[in-house]
Amino acid sequence: MIHKNLQQALIEQLNKEFHSAYIYLGMSAYCSKEGFNGASNWFLVQYQEEVAHGMKLFKYLEDQNVEITLPAIESVSVEFSSLLDVFEKSLAHEQYMTQNLNNLSDIAMREKDHATYNLLQWYVTEQVEEESNVNAIIDHIKLVGDNGYGLYTIDKELATRVFVDPTTAA
Ligand code: FEO
Repeated sequence: MIHKNLQQALIEQLNKEFHSAYIYLGMSAYCSKEGFNGASNWFLVQYQEEVAHGMKLFKYLEDQNVEITLPAIESVSVEFSSLLDVFEKSLAHEQYMTQNLNNLSDIAMREKDHATYNLLQWYVTEQVEEESNVNAIIDHIKLVGDNGYGLYTIDKELATRVFVDPTTAA
């Protein structure tokens, strides 16, 4: 049985995962509009990953007999100033998500809720990879600056990303 306060915080996290998916859908739309089809693909895969994160939590809450509520998902921006801007905003968002997951882990630890703590550690580990991936892309974009051929090459690379469900991957 999950403590009531933690239940509420997990439901908020569920909303944040789907909000993240929505944010990445917006970023994908922006990249597509700007002709960065590879980056658009990259964010579409990111969208799918966030949906998978949300569904993993949804399933856990169901397994723990939590009465699930689904509050509205906040609207998102589809306007950015550049490819660098969109990836920097993506990194800032992931850092925010990491903070949320650390806070949730603190609560689970305080409540001695080992099952929820274990689940949250899966997310915390996933965040390390997410932040690292985005950081690498940002470094790459900064390296080429506004060189058109450089950006074209990065975009081509981003086009190769395929979705692998992180909740089932080994
Ligand atoms: Fe599910 Fe990227 O946080």
